[in-house]
Amino acid sequence: MLRKAVIPAAGLGTRFLPATKAQPKEMLPIIDTPVIQYVVQEAIDSGITDILIISGKGKRAVEDHFDRNWELEQVLSQKEDESWYNILKQIDGMADIHYIRQKETKGLGDAILHARQHVGDEPFAVLLGDTIVDATIPVTRQLMDIYDQYQQSVVSVEAVPQEKVSRYGIVGGKDISQHLKKIDCMIEKPDEQDAPSNLAFAGRYILTPEIFKCLKSTKPGKHSEIQLTDAMNILMERESLYALRAQGKRHDIGNKMDYLKTIVEFGLKRPEFATEFKQFLKEVVR
Ligand code: G1P
Repeated sequence: MLRKAVIPAAGLGTRFLPATKAQPKEMLPIIDTPVIQYVVQEAIDSGITDILIISGKGKRAVEDHFDRNWELEQVLSQKEDESWYNILKQIDGMADIHYIRQKETKGLGDAILHARQHVGDEPFAVLLGDTIVDATIPVTRQLMDIYDQYQQSVVSVEAVPQEKVSRYGIVGGKDISQHLKKIDCMIEKPDEQDAPSNLAFAGRYILTPEIFKCLKSTKPGKHSEIQLTDAMNILMERESLYALRAQGKRHDIGNKMDYLKTIVEFGLKRPEFATEFKQFLKEVVR
């Protein structure tokens, strides 16, 4: 039974400056809800009961967001309209959330290694804190179902345009079924000509605890950082690894253009804004 999730949220957010100079990129709002709240919600909706957020310098707002705000509760509880009070209560009761700080940003692999003590000898999910996936069945749940079947690590992948492969970890492998591959190679941010395919890691992973041993022996790779992809390459020599083309649309919030598109898409989906916003967009485009 998979119960733990790790959410790395310690990155500096350099691609989103100046907004991220004094606030975490994970707290950027999609209209009124910070990105990380969507990520935590996905974990909970998937059946995860224990969440470890890898935090770091300048990330206090993330911890405050999931903590109680007594003053605000007091003020809102006295208002007639209880909806805001209920929203607030819902956030602070979301799950059992723990934090650990990564003191130096040494890469995604190093961030995950910080979860070793907390996770122990269990398989666990990883949800990147700057990625939202809009899906009918939460992507983490889709991965957990594959894990239940194979009892091996499984990651979500997505086809990306060939000219963008150098932005992602790219996998190659053999088809098991229409949406599932057994991975036989992985390269972090390859040059276009070296990419084994155009299937990119899409921000959601289920990993067996063996990954921690692999991470310990992983040397700095791309950008001189400890890369999770490199550790998974070591893991592949010891265990099988699967890649699922999961159902759902990924939104990479660490990237300004995707962020802009996400706000528009989510705005159009909100019943209270949809009609007026659609009209507004039509006028702007015209
Ligand atoms: C990380 C991973 C990469 C993955 C990507 C997905 O890269 O290292 O393998 O494809 O997330 O968003 P980052 O975006 O942190 O550079």
